[in-house]
Amino acid sequence: GRVWTEIADLDDAAAGRSVIIRGAAQAIRPVSKKMAFVVLRQSMCTVQCVLVASVDAGVSTQMVRFATSLSKESIVDIEGVVSLPKEPLKATTQQVEIQVRKIYCINRATPTLPINLEDASRSEAEFEKAEQAGEKLVRVGQDTRLNYRAIDLRTPSNQAIFRIQCQVENKFREFLLSKNFVGIHSPKLIAGSSEGGAAVFKLQYNGQPACLAQSPQLYKQMAICGGFERVFEVGPVFRAENSNTHRHLCEFVGLDAEMEIKEHYFEVCDIIDGLFVAIFKHLNENCKKELETINKQYPFEPLKYLEKTLKLTYEEGIQMLKEAGTEIEPMGDLNTEAEKKLGRLVKEKYGTEFFILYRYPLAVRPFYTMPCYDNPAYSNSFDVFIRGEEIISGAQRIHTPELLTKRATECGIDASTIASYIESFSILLHLILISIYGHHCSYGAPPHGGFGVGLERVVMLFCALNNIRKTSLFPRDPQRLVP
Ligand code: 4AD
Repeated sequence: GRVWTEIADLDDAAAGRSVIIRGAAQAIRPVSKKMAFVVLRQSMCTVQCVLVASVDAGVSTQMVRFATSLSKESIVDIEGVVSLPKEPLKATTQQVEIQVRKIYCINRATPTLPINLEDASRSEAEFEKAEQAGEKLVRVGQDTRLNYRAIDLRTPSNQAIFRIQCQVENKFREFLLSKNFVGIHSPKLIAGSSEGGAAVFKLQYNGQPACLAQSPQLYKQMAICGGFERVFEVGPVFRAENSNTHRHLCEFVGLDAEMEIKEHYFEVCDIIDGLFVAIFKHLNENCKKELETINKQYPFEPLKYLEKTLKLTYEEGIQMLKEAGTEIEPMGDLNTEAEKKLGRLVKEKYGTEFFILYRYPLAVRPFYTMPCYDNPAYSNSFDVFIRGEEIISGAQRIHTPELLTKRATECGIDASTIASYIESFSILLHLILISIYGHHCSYGAPPHGGFGVGLERVVMLFCALNNIRKTSLFPRDPQRLVP
């Protein structure tokens, strides 16, 4: 077979080499009957290919005409010789040209695609500049993009976004594996809701009512009960959200971890600290091209973070908000607006846009959260923020069946619907037996805690993108089930 060349590998050192390349014809520019340019694209890279009719090179005027008749986005094979351009090319393409010897069309695209990729790749600033110059350019709306996602995904920024996403996921695994976590897969078809609340998709499972897992929460804890000291999972999470926001999806990728705690739940925060500092460093050092590409269409400031992640108590957070004039209920939850404001205040005071807020009021946390030992109105829990928006929530969990049953009941959850979960911590003793033994019979679950991260949110907020749909390959929101 022939040796196919990747456009990304074409540099000065390739000059003089004969190559064969397959790509999409991004642009076709006729110059004369005897000359034309075809810009070939592979993912984020393009290369300019030059056709010049010449007997020596075996290129006919018919071939030049054929090239100029190609439609944009057609899949094309080009055989040619790499040459150095006479003048520097646009910074967005490889700095070499291909002198075309042969050109084949593998699949011709229709001349009128539903999305014009040039428009779909422009930045807002470019649109504004064009408008000021009196040019009329059409913005490609979010719905149109998502309706024709397979075309929309070809823009350089989309190519970059999903490469970044893959790197975050990969680094998550790599880091946790290096800390002795074991990767697991928990069921997504489950009997009761895993996070409580109404946001659950219900379905029939062989005649029984069932639901789609809202998180691996209960099962990752059961894996800890099962003797795995540290576990992580990367998998789909389903939430029957009925609010249309810029940061909620009905299906997202959950990055979850759960671990034994030896002395303090800050051990979980330390893992998050090391993990995210490693992820941010990796992206900044090894994904420069991707970040530059995203920046071209969606300009953003690099994320400010500290080598040692800042931790603030919830009370300190409330205090900062109060001092800045925000009325806030001290034992209630923070709304989106208050979170954003706190993000700005923390950035001003501590110079970081990534921080942990811990010791939340117990009342605003899920039933499985461990109350604080010194004051049960608070809990051993935390949220983590990037640029003032939540990306992680985590906590120490209750590991004794009595307290678990009590807290579930207090939170309005019928303990019988999560009996098998509670049973992982103890044998379910009949009330009469409890009165004899005086307590539940514990199976011996170790103290443990963990956290859950939304992958799409991490990428959205690291790159300061304005909508989570931009970081989901085929987003599922309350309105969208196709494509
Ligand atoms: O805050 P959540 O609901 O927490 C849990 O699922 C717990 N079981 C985690 C734990 O281990 N204690 O979800 C965790 C993260 C959020 O911080 C957010 O990043 C993301 O998942 N998330 C969503 N992402 C996109 N769309 C949604 N509807 C999301 N809901 C939560």
